[in-house]
Amino acid sequence: MIRLCFVCLGNICRSPTAEGIMRHLLREEGLDGRVEVDSAGTGGWHVGERADPRARETARARGFTLDSRARQVTPSDFARFDYLLAMDRANVRALEALAPDTAARAKIRLLRSFDADAPAGAEVPDPYYGGDDGFEQVFDICEAACRGLLAQLREGLERAR
Ligand code: 4NP
Repeated sequence: MIRLCFVCLGNICRSPTAEGIMRHLLREEGLDGRVEVDSAGTGGWHVGERADPRARETARARGFTLDSRARQVTPSDFARFDYLLAMDRANVRALEALAPDTAARAKIRLLRSFDADAPAGAEVPDPYYGGDDGFEQVFDICEAACRGLLAQLREGLERAR
């Protein structure tokens, strides 16, 4: 089993979007039993909330469902997950500050580093204070990165067979 946790600031816009996309792609490929997916926020303001209605509507219009409830990332997440996939560099820094040791820090990645077409250091922009088109962009960015991530995971899973 490979365990993934997508991480953003509030856990109501970007990381729930990435989580919903990844769940959908894994189901399509019959890999949902082999990869566990979750998401969390570095901040705690929205704990217990469903994803932002704009994120849910953007996903729904494309045939995806976002059904996460917001939670805040904890140090124990570094033991539970193989990868902590950060949306931006501020998330990376917050995760680094929380990581209990070097092995934990090595699990942190920028999500877009899995998108071969994204420049080095590319981030998923925070759509919270912007318009609806920000959510469309976030969806496209997350989908491209999740497809790249899935392609890499598939190689590992095939080697493990
Ligand atoms: P997210 O977006 O990190 O993609 O979930 C945000 C949601 C809420 C806030 C900031 C970003 N906020 O400041 O409450």
